[in-house]
Amino acid sequence: RSDLPTYNVEEIQVHCSVDKRVWVTYGIGVYDITEFIAEHPGGENIMLGAGSAIDPFWAIYQQHNNKEILTLLELYRIGNLSPEDKVSTEDMGSPWAHEPRRHPLLNPTSERPFNAEPPMKLLGENFFTPNEFFYVRNHLPVPLIDANKFELEVSIETTESGMKEQSKSLTLADIKRMPKYTVTAAVMCGGNRRSEMTRVKSVKGLSWNAGAVGNATWSGARLRDVLLAMGVVPNENLHVVLEGADLDPTSHPYGASIPLSKAMDERGDVILAYEMNGKVLSRDHGYPLRCIVPGTVGSRNVKWLSRIAVSENESNSHWQQNDYKGFSPSTDWDTVDFSKSPAIQAMPVTSAICSPVDGDALIIKDDGYLTVHGYAWSGGGRRIVRVDLTIDQGKTWHVAELQQEDHPDGRHYGWSLWTVRIPIENTTSSEVEIWAKAVDSAYNVQPENFENIWNLRGVLANAYHRIRVKLI
Ligand code: MTE
Repeated sequence: RSDLPTYNVEEIQVHCSVDKRVWVTYGIGVYDITEFIAEHPGGENIMLGAGSAIDPFWAIYQQHNNKEILTLLELYRIGNLSPEDKVSTEDMGSPWAHEPRRHPLLNPTSERPFNAEPPMKLLGENFFTPNEFFYVRNHLPVPLIDANKFELEVSIETTESGMKEQSKSLTLADIKRMPKYTVTAAVMCGGNRRSEMTRVKSVKGLSWNAGAVGNATWSGARLRDVLLAMGVVPNENLHVVLEGADLDPTSHPYGASIPLSKAMDERGDVILAYEMNGKVLSRDHGYPLRCIVPGTVGSRNVKWLSRIAVSENESNSHWQQNDYKGFSPSTDWDTVDFSKSPAIQAMPVTSAICSPVDGDALIIKDDGYLTVHGYAWSGGGRRIVRVDLTIDQGKTWHVAELQQEDHPDGRHYGWSLWTVRIPIENTTSSEVEIWAKAVDSAYNVQPENFENIWNLRGVLANAYHRIRVKLI
C-alpha cells in the first residue's frame, strides 16, 4: 500500500474521538474506523485503542486474529505508519502463557479469553457442581498470583455517615484468621441461555447454552466482618467496588460493584471465598480469593480479588457501566443509552432441562413415562417453590419433585434440582416438545417466550426452556 500517505504517532493520536475521527494502527497500517464503531461486536471497548496501536489489544482479545476481521480492517485503511513508530508486541510475552489446564469435557464458547460450560446432562447430575465442571467466564487472561505475597487492599473512600477515609491491606492469612463461613450459592452468568434468545434476533455476546451456571459451597470470611472491623456503617446510598487482578491492555482491572446494603446485610451472606466445595479455589475460579455475592448475577462475583472500596459511586468499569444491563426489545445499538438502565444485581427466576437434551431420541420403556431432570434458581435469595412441565403446549402441566437445601426464604441462595415423570402412554406423535417453567417464592414465574424479553446484549434470558425429543 505504498500509494497511501505515511503518518507518525503524533499525527495519529489526535484522532481519538468521533468528532476528530477515530484512527488506529495495526502493524504498519493506519485505519480510520469512525464508521465502524457502531458495528463493533465488543461495543465501546473499541474506543480504548482510539488514536493508538491496537496490536496490544488484539494480543489479548485474540478473537480478532482471523482472516475475515483482517480483511474488514483493510477496508478502513487510510495510510501507513512511519516505520520507526511500529509497535512490537514481542516483548509483551504471551498474555496467555500462564492459562491453567481445563477439563476436556468443558465446551468452550471462546478459547481466549477462556469461556466454557459443561454438557447439560453432566450439569444436572450433581447437586454440588464438581469444581472441574463448573462453567468458566473469563474476560481477560488468568492472572498468576503468589498467595504468599497476596494482598487485598480495602479502603473507605467516603466520609458519609461519619466514616473515616482510610485504607488497609490484608494478607490471605489475615482473612483466614477471621471467622469462616460456608454458604451454598449458585453462580449464574447474566448471559446464560443467550443462544436461545439469539434465535429470535441476533444479540451481541458469547453464545451460552444453559450451562453458564453452577452450584457450590463457598467458604471464607464475610465481607461484612471485614467492613465492620474498619468501622463501616450501613448506608443505603453507598456501594462496594470490587476489583480483580486481571488487567486489560490499558492496565485497568476487571471490576464490578454491589450495594453496600447487600455487603453489610447479615442475611446477604457475601463471602470473601478461598474455598469452593471444600477445596482451595482453582485458578480459573479466582485463586486465591474471590467475592461470592449470593443471589446476584455472576459478573459481580469478582475473581482474583485485589481491591475493595466503599464508595459513593458504583464501579466505573466497563462491565458495571456499559454491559450486564437490560433494555427494552425495541432498543437497538443506535438508540441504546447504558446510563439509563441499572446494572443487573439480583437475577430473575429461571430453569432449564438438563436431561434429556434437545434432539435426543428416547427409547420408550414399558412403564409409559418420560423422566425429565433439570435445575431451577432465582436471584435475591428467593426459594424455588415449584417447577411445572408440559408436553402438550400447556394443556396439562406436571409438577416436578424438588431437591433443595432447607434455608429460609430470602436467604435461599443455592439452586434446586428437579425430576418429573410425565405419562406418555396417550402420546401418539413420535416427537414431543417439552417446556419447563419455574416459580419462585415471590410467585415470579418465567416468561413464556423470548420475543418479549429480547434485549440487544442477550442477558436475562429466562423464558420457558423448550426442547424437542423423538420417541422411538
Ligand atoms: N472476575 C474477574 N476478576 N474477571 C472476570 O472476567 N468474570 C465474571 C465474574 N467475576 C470475571 C470475574 C463473570 S461475568 C462471571 S459470570 C463469573 O465471574 C464467572 O465465575 P466462574 O468463572 O467462577 O464460573
